[in-house]
Amino acid sequence: MKIKDDFAIEVDENEILKLLGDEKKVKEKWKDIVKEEIQWTKTYIKPFIIYEQYKIIALEKQQIILENQVLLEGKGVDKYFDQCHGIIMAIATIGKEIDERIEEEFKTGDYIRGIILDYIGNKILESITCCFFEEQSHLLGQSQMGLTLPLSPGDLHFSLAEQKKIFKSLQPEKIGISLNETDMMTPLKSISMIYGLGKGFKTPISHQSCKNCQVAHCTYYPKEKIMLTIHRQDRTYCFQVKAKTNLLEFLRKEKIWIESPCNGAGVCGKCKVFFVEGVPPPMNLDRLHLTKEELQKGIRLACVADLQQSATIRLLQQSESIQVMETGMERHQEKSIEADQRIFRLKMKGMNSTSPSYGLGVDIGTTTVVIYLMDLKKGQTIDQISGANQQRVYGADIITRIQYTIDNPEGLSILQKTIVAQLNQMIEALCYQNAITPLDIHEVVVVGNTVMLHLFFGVSCVQLAQAPYTPVFTEEVVIKGREIGLNVNGDVVLLPGVAGYVGSDLTSAILASGMAEEKGYSLLVDLGTNGEMVLGNRDQMIACSTAAGPAFEGTNITWGMAGVLGAICSVDFSKDHVFQTIGHHKAIGICGSGVLDLVAQLRKYEMIDGTGRMKKPEEIKLPKNLQERVQIKSGAPEFLLTETIAFTQKDVREVQLAKGAIRAGIEVLLREQRIENLKQIQHVYIAGGFGNFMNVRSSLDIGLFPKEFANRIVSIGNAAGMGAKLCLISEEARKKVNESKKRIQYLELSNHVEFQDYFLNNINLP
Ligand code: FES
Repeated sequence: MKIKDDFAIEVDENEILKLLGDEKKVKEKWKDIVKEEIQWTKTYIKPFIIYEQYKIIALEKQQIILENQVLLEGKGVDKYFDQCHGIIMAIATIGKEIDERIEEEFKTGDYIRGIILDYIGNKILESITCCFFEEQSHLLGQSQMGLTLPLSPGDLHFSLAEQKKIFKSLQPEKIGISLNETDMMTPLKSISMIYGLGKGFKTPISHQSCKNCQVAHCTYYPKEKIMLTIHRQDRTYCFQVKAKTNLLEFLRKEKIWIESPCNGAGVCGKCKVFFVEGVPPPMNLDRLHLTKEELQKGIRLACVADLQQSATIRLLQQSESIQVMETGMERHQEKSIEADQRIFRLKMKGMNSTSPSYGLGVDIGTTTVVIYLMDLKKGQTIDQISGANQQRVYGADIITRIQYTIDNPEGLSILQKTIVAQLNQMIEALCYQNAITPLDIHEVVVVGNTVMLHLFFGVSCVQLAQAPYTPVFTEEVVIKGREIGLNVNGDVVLLPGVAGYVGSDLTSAILASGMAEEKGYSLLVDLGTNGEMVLGNRDQMIACSTAAGPAFEGTNITWGMAGVLGAICSVDFSKDHVFQTIGHHKAIGICGSGVLDLVAQLRKYEMIDGTGRMKKPEEIKLPKNLQERVQIKSGAPEFLLTETIAFTQKDVREVQLAKGAIRAGIEVLLREQRIENLKQIQHVYIAGGFGNFMNVRSSLDIGLFPKEFANRIVSIGNAAGMGAKLCLISEEARKKVNESKKRIQYLELSNHVEFQDYFLNNINLP
């Protein structure tokens, strides 16, 4: 066996920057890191190629028999090598050091650095294989021989199983390369190649082969069409698409939703799809996020799957059926709207004409959208409709959506058109169901967080991604529906918000809760990715927003997901069936309320200690049915809910961070209001979908709320939507929202000196 190790490492900084994005801003931002990491590779990376030449003894249908008795099998290989009398087998690697660095950066959350290292590693591997190709073709050229482009196991001709035969021939263990049971090499940045050699044909000029390479969107790649069949539940879609189309981008374009919280950055590992046919070779990010079993089954990440051949896929998620909280608190439900008017002494708007008049209350949430159709004369809700916010295909949370507008010149317009088109579809459905037309809709009141309202209006929200998070507008806005493309007859009113991260969903919820009318103190918390909260009474209110992270929305949790059919939504270890799923479907993941219960139960049964450390099986003594669920994986304990769905140490930490941030926000508000005796808080209102489904006992057990709140917590469901409805039927309610906005003092927690202390004090579990 021969070994080549005299490679010079040269990586073009501009090529790496190009991979990070075309925009100048992007390039400027990451330039220093790219330089630094290229420098690092020059010191620590030591590439090797081990190789050997073998004579071909026979070429048969789909087979090559070599002089060393190895039989290589693959589709069309007999044709590919038909002019060759020999082959060169080679395995190239750039060593394990870069794998370790990438893993470390991902673990510590420096994803960009990890991705940059990944790109640099790929480039080095590509450059050493090119160098090897050129050297070999030069040597062979002296004997009038040519060299074919290489084939690698896993590409179009050879299956991955052929990897073993190359290993058997070359024994690359000598240069530190090993093969696992799924035929994947370690280090990850390694590649095996088979070149044909013979007289009578010319060596191609470039080492790059379009047919076999996996670089998507290459300008030289022939634009072949392939068939893509997609199965989702009971629906099947068929498309003709260009070869090398990225699967996630295609699904987005066709508005076929799959979870992709990191917006295709390859960080979250949630965009899993099952390839029934045409499974692409696994990429590094697939290997990073998927288990061996998943890789073997044909599961891949949609964001890294560039379709090279016709494929049939099955979508694993059924998330179009998200649980949506459409109703508000009991006293504000439609049936008791008259009672609401008494409570707030609201005057109904007078409608003079005798013709019917309708209005819409619209709540645009980051995850869901709800529209209420109201009869403006009677002040009654006629109908309602809800669905997942279709902008979700561009990112699960507001930060990834803002990022989408930064990364794509058309991003803002795409997001604006998406939400307007969705609202128009929903309005059409409501009108059809109720035998009215959009011309009958005279007013629309819209509420949402500040980012959603900016996107709805098509106004840039880039400044909301960086301190001091200044929105373009927070005041009430009134505009003709047609001017923003909404298919209604009258005005669209956007209720006022308070700040970049305290939007009109909170001011509207304040109205619906009635807290701005009360003498006693109330705390209102809207639990989402940002825990928005307000504490006060009719005299004054203080609001803030904590970057709680999306743990309670199921994101950032290994098996976390939105509240969809099959999501584990409650956990109780004292029951025979320790968990329940939404719709009693087979468990496919765990949503926020399940996550909350699970941590509370793990702590109650002492499977985790007060610091959040998960105990090992030998440290705990539990009933058999629970004990056998605790297992060690990769040296760390985890809790198994099903054979595959596990809750890990990292997941516990995510919950601790979210809980610590929310509790710290509450403590800061209490301090700012100088409230020491918690009995002064008369009501604790929890708004939003998660608040409605969460188990209050679990929230107290993990210290999300002080235990003194035990009997005062009231879930008020979609209070934002309820506030929108009240504003639709009453001018007075609208005035109240605008007045209360003026009484709300906004507190920016990132500038608050004590927030960090409160946060650290509340990370542990009681
Ligand atoms: S890994 Fe996050 S979208 Fe694919």
